[in-house]
Amino acid sequence: MARHLPYGDMDKILSLSKRRGFVFQSSEIYGGLGSTWDYGPLGVELKRHVKEAWWRSVVLERDDMVGQDAAILMNPQVWVASGHVENFSDPMAECSSCHRRFRTDDLDSKLCPECGGELADPRQFNLMFKTFMGPVEDTASQVYLRPETAQGIFVNFTNVVNSTRKKLPFGIAQIGKAFRNEITPGNFTFRTREFEQMEIEYFVKPGTNGEWLHSWVQDRLAWYTEYGIRPDNLRLRRHASDELAHYANDCYDIEYRFPWGWAELEGIADRTDYDLRQHAEASGQDLQYFDEETKEHYFPYVIEPSGGVDRAVLAFWLDAYDEEPDGDTVRAVLRLHRKLSPVTVAALPLSRNAKLVPTAREVYAQLRRHFTTQYDDAQSIGRRYRRQDEIGTPFCVTIDFDTLDDKQVTVRDRDTMHQSRIPIADLIPVLQDKLEHGW
Ligand code: GAP
Repeated sequence: MARHLPYGDMDKILSLSKRRGFVFQSSEIYGGLGSTWDYGPLGVELKRHVKEAWWRSVVLERDDMVGQDAAILMNPQVWVASGHVENFSDPMAECSSCHRRFRTDDLDSKLCPECGGELADPRQFNLMFKTFMGPVEDTASQVYLRPETAQGIFVNFTNVVNSTRKKLPFGIAQIGKAFRNEITPGNFTFRTREFEQMEIEYFVKPGTNGEWLHSWVQDRLAWYTEYGIRPDNLRLRRHASDELAHYANDCYDIEYRFPWGWAELEGIADRTDYDLRQHAEASGQDLQYFDEETKEHYFPYVIEPSGGVDRAVLAFWLDAYDEEPDGDTVRAVLRLHRKLSPVTVAALPLSRNAKLVPTAREVYAQLRRHFTTQYDDAQSIGRRYRRQDEIGTPFCVTIDFDTLDDKQVTVRDRDTMHQSRIPIADLIPVLQDKLEHGW
């Protein structure tokens, strides 16, 4: 019987992470750097598959969406106009005894959570990282590392409309790094100072924003469950008016039941026409949309589904971790959606016998042209299956001595452990079909 944890086991994930190469502490040999992480060989594939699944769903499979990739560094006026210079801050207080600093909106009391000392009155701390552009370090050359990818979309609104002839409603999607000098990062990759966002700015006719907000909330929730998150571990939470960001008039968070409690995976906000208006005013450019049907010029409203790549990866990963008894031992299985697994197919020669190797290598060469494939010939076949189960590989292809005669291989399914013999000539289409539709 599979032991389904109520939700993921963080200790198991952390041990798996380092041992198998999902995530490492950044600059570990120098003692690390506060809450920054590096994705290792398996982590980078898992993350890439999560981003691909998102891009396919919100760009490639929709007629009303296009993509873009803006620079991280932008004209600093962008952040003045967007309101981030003035408003993108958290309340912070310092402990009078241990001098640690805390985000006070996270705290229940005015005492230091570390040493019990008295906290000073909070002050606003701007979360944007600053750096200098060019060879002079003065205020004129100061730029920011973007705290959200969204602004790169707003400033390109007219470029995209003019180059694609898109009509409302339509959206622009982007995946990229964002940086926030968080006061209290933590919980592994959940809150870090450098992270990746998957953002959509969806432009609609004013008055239709309410229905589009609800439609995007449903689409985005469905995406997380389609890719394997148990519905019980997801919930929607509408923002109270006093927690809305400075640009939003409504917002729903999709929350995941992390081991430390419910926390935000993605926010879907109604940003009204705030950003386009602000940029039009500050830049002096006309950023209105011309509606050919009504012959009106107006600022579209914007619905913004904004998710964190790292948080999505962590949630899929935690949700997928499973263990089941296997004789006297325990079989650890990462039941990731087959399209998200870091390795899609493992090519496993039964042994390193010289007669098997050329055929095994040939099968591997065919597979890797179509799937993320790993060749593993170390230790017994049973141990290799276990190793692949632990990292979530949905399909193991075993090349044995019968293969040399009948030109067939054994394909093993991770979840049922069911094995079937498949002709090598059919292997690619069969696996493509199983990848699309399941076993
Ligand atoms: N453009 C809107 C925006 O940035 P947000 O709610 O501040 O909204 C969107 O961020 C998403 O980015 C969050 O739902 C979360 O998944 C991710 N995110 C935000 N801050 C993060 C951090 N410090 N570390 C990791 N992910 C973060």
